[in-house]
Amino acid sequence: MMELNGIEREMSMSYLNRYMKRYRIPFFAALAFLTLEALCDLIQPAVMSRVVDVGIRNRDMSYVLHMGFIMLGITGVGAIGAVGRNILSSVVSQHFAADLRMDLYKKIQTLSYAAARRFDTGSLVTRLTNDVTQLVNFANGLMRIFAKAPILCAGSIIMAILLDPPAGLVLVAVVPCVAVIILIEIRRGYPLFSRVQSAVDALNEKIRTYLQTIRVVKAFNRFKEEKGRFEEKNTGLCKAQAHAMKTMALFSPSVLMVVNLGIVVVLWMGGLRVNSGALEVGKVIAFLNYMTQISFALTTVFMVFVRFVRARASAERVGEVMNAEDTMKEPVSPISLKKKTSLRFSHVSFSYKTGGEDRALKDISFSCDAGQTVGILGSTGSGKSTLVNLIPRFYDSTAGSIEVCGVDIQQANTEELRKNVAMVPQKSTLFSGTILENLRWGDQNATLEQVQEASNIAQAHEFISNLPNGYETYLGQGGVNLSGGQKQRLAIARALLRHPRIFILDDCTSAVDALTEKKIRAGLSALPGAPICIVIAQRIASVMQANRILAMEDGKVVGSGTHQELLKSCMTYRDICASQSGRVGA
Ligand SMILES: Nc1ncnc2c1ncn2[C@@H]1O[C@H](COP(=O)(O)OP(=O)(O)OP(=O)(O)O)[C@@H](O)[C@H]1O
Ligand SMILES: [Mg+2]
Repeated sequence: MMELNGIEREMSMSYLNRYMKRYRIPFFAALAFLTLEALCDLIQPAVMSRVVDVGIRNRDMSYVLHMGFIMLGITGVGAIGAVGRNILSSVVSQHFAADLRMDLYKKIQTLSYAAARRFDTGSLVTRLTNDVTQLVNFANGLMRIFAKAPILCAGSIIMAILLDPPAGLVLVAVVPCVAVIILIEIRRGYPLFSRVQSAVDALNEKIRTYLQTIRVVKAFNRFKEEKGRFEEKNTGLCKAQAHAMKTMALFSPSVLMVVNLGIVVVLWMGGLRVNSGALEVGKVIAFLNYMTQISFALTTVFMVFVRFVRARASAERVGEVMNAEDTMKEPVSPISLKKKTSLRFSHVSFSYKTGGEDRALKDISFSCDAGQTVGILGSTGSGKSTLVNLIPRFYDSTAGSIEVCGVDIQQANTEELRKNVAMVPQKSTLFSGTILENLRWGDQNATLEQVQEASNIAQAHEFISNLPNGYETYLGQGGVNLSGGQKQRLAIARALLRHPRIFILDDCTSAVDALTEKKIRAGLSALPGAPICIVIAQRIASVMQANRILAMEDGKVVGSGTHQELLKSCMTYRDICASQSGRVGA
């Protein structure tokens, strides 16, 4: 993770102001309860010194009892404060957590492909869960104990000076020493705990990819290598954590040492001055009490600090997502798509890297009208998927323009555009749920007949009907209980249910047998509403009938025309043809 400079850091945190504003009142109410509790803690030693110096010294039992009741009353008030801040802090922090997660979730949802790609999935998961928890822990702690430390420190000093100014000076000397130690430790600890957080991130990412590729790992017997890589990340985290803890190990003891030295000085001074009659015993007891309160408060500062460092690193990482700028801008006044279905690419170039030299698409121009089919053919990596991904504006072209239904897609409303363009991606993604639920992603309100009709065209109806539960069959995560070809056909049916005006099939009949594919093709050519079909395929037979075929090579369209035209004019196309009819090398 790159180091942010001061100003950027401020900017990246500014999103937290929103929550500060929202929870200002209960937050300060919690602090008020906390202050009440701390004040009660501060008064107790003073009252006790009176019990010793007045009540016990004069053997005045009624005075002792009287003061005892007062102490009891103060304890009661303190308990009310403690209960109040406990309730408030839990309520506020849990609401804060829920809000933050929701906002983060919404933000991720709105990010464009290009912006979302900057964060890998593993790190987004950590940000949504662990990082939010860290922030909330800190906020919760702030309302519970952390704010108590400064109140107790300042209060103890004031009370001590009021009781006896010379002895109070000891506290005045101790507290700044400890403050300096804390400052130094914060400076040293911050980068260390940031590193721990990055190591957690790396480990999570490793686990995620491992679980995703577990089948391949088993198939290739790569367990040893995978174990090695896991071990590397695991030790990385272990080392980072151990290093951070080792560095911080001096912290608590050094704070305690300074405070205990203070106690020794108080006892020594107190002893001398009690002997000379300048100080009363009860006051010395009260001082010791204040010292222990301070040492308790200051050691909780260590917890504050660790949580603060973590929360700060987490806040930055959450902020990176919250402040992620989308380069893809929605038009201010979008133009609605025209009635007439059409698609036009003019001199479109595209690069995955901003300002990158190696372009994935180079100067692509073609157009087609309602009811036409465009076939795209080309070797793997030639840019076919990239080309169709530009149509629903998953990415913005680097140069040139794309018109859908007469409107430049950068001028159109993205939601409307995506409603009219349906894509069956190369890798079909299904969700846990029944087949029917999955298909209704295409159209929430589709009737069962409509769903069946779409499944019919996609040649999925038959196999679905043969399943024991038919359309109510439950699919595991990602549709694990279906074959590749079955998944592809469901994905096609799902896209068909959207009744798109532009229908894109990205090599999604690769796992379907040739005869079934032919039937699907026949069904697609008879779709109502004359949509444009864009069919990416590996097999020439899949696109032979298309009105226009684009032959792609290395991001360029090297041939464009019908099957017959290309056979005559395009070398690449002829080569592909030859290889598929088995004449290669003949
Ligand atoms: N998300 C991405 N980030 C960076 N480069 C990418 C990305 N996706 C694809 N590419 C690159 O763009 C080029 C074109 O890829 P594309 O997926 O469009 O090929 P394709 O023609 O669809 O191949 P296939 O037939 O194997 O699906 C490839 O060189 C690939 O490395
Ligand atoms: Mg592809």
